[in-house]
Amino acid sequence: MSDGFVARSLDEVLFWSRIMKEHSFFLKLGFRCEDTQLIQEANHFYAVFESIEHRANTYSIGTDPYTIRRFNEETFVAVSHIWAFKRKVLGLILACQLPGGTNFPLLVDHVSREANYFRNRLAELNSGKLEPLPDAIIDENVFFLRIMADHAKFISHLLDPSERKLVEQANDFSHDFDQLLFQARDLESMRPQSQTGPLLDQFLDQNKVSVKSLRDFKRTARELIEACRIKSIIHPLLADHVFREAERFLLIIDLFEKSLTGHPVPAPHEVSSFAPNAP
Ligand SMILES: [Fe+2]
Ligand SMILES: [Fe+2]
Repeated sequence: MSDGFVARSLDEVLFWSRIMKEHSFFLKLGFRCEDTQLIQEANHFYAVFESIEHRANTYSIGTDPYTIRRFNEETFVAVSHIWAFKRKVLGLILACQLPGGTNFPLLVDHVSREANYFRNRLAELNSGKLEPLPDAIIDENVFFLRIMADHAKFISHLLDPSERKLVEQANDFSHDFDQLLFQARDLESMRPQSQTGPLLDQFLDQNKVSVKSLRDFKRTARELIEACRIKSIIHPLLADHVFREAERFLLIIDLFEKSLTGHPVPAPHEVSSFAPNAP
């Protein structure tokens, strides 16, 4: 196993297990009170990911890599299960089996995509499979730009309709990120010819500007929600959750930028992953 395997694994697991735990909580909030079975399942996943998070906190970079490898495998299984649960819930909603529930289908699909992303990261870490840097840059951006575009849509739809200015701002972000996502997909379909240094660098620059501005908007929204200064049905934890995901995307962009411009260029795997001590 390569250097940094333990640190990278712990960083991914700590970040994403908290995210999975919170998804369980958000899904539960959106179920109807008579959906006791689904509520129980959501509670179960909350406990599973809380325990994974606690375990990750007991390990350190000095932990035996084989212990971490096994831990990643166990986490992979738990993530597969929550992914299946989310897809089941999506099926129920789309078949109109949960009338009156408040989980948007796109939100359920979104959280299942995040589970799938986490699962892939764990598989990559354990297999030591290296994705070439230019591919990692395009793939991660396609994934996260869509996530950001979805967040803007959720914020717009969960704000009270009377918050006209904020809804308008959220809709502008939604449009901006849809455009960035289309651009990213264009670059994706033009590869490998599109994977030149200048094009990838410009791609990252442009995305970074928009992600920073969305991150700041989310921070403001979070503060306003926590202080009860705006009308919405956004849980304060959801506001913080989407803020943290934007911060994560920014960190990834920074690592890619450094590896494109700086030298020596780290192994591709290190840039498609996270710096061990990233905040
Ligand atoms: Fe999430
Ligand atoms: Fe998200």
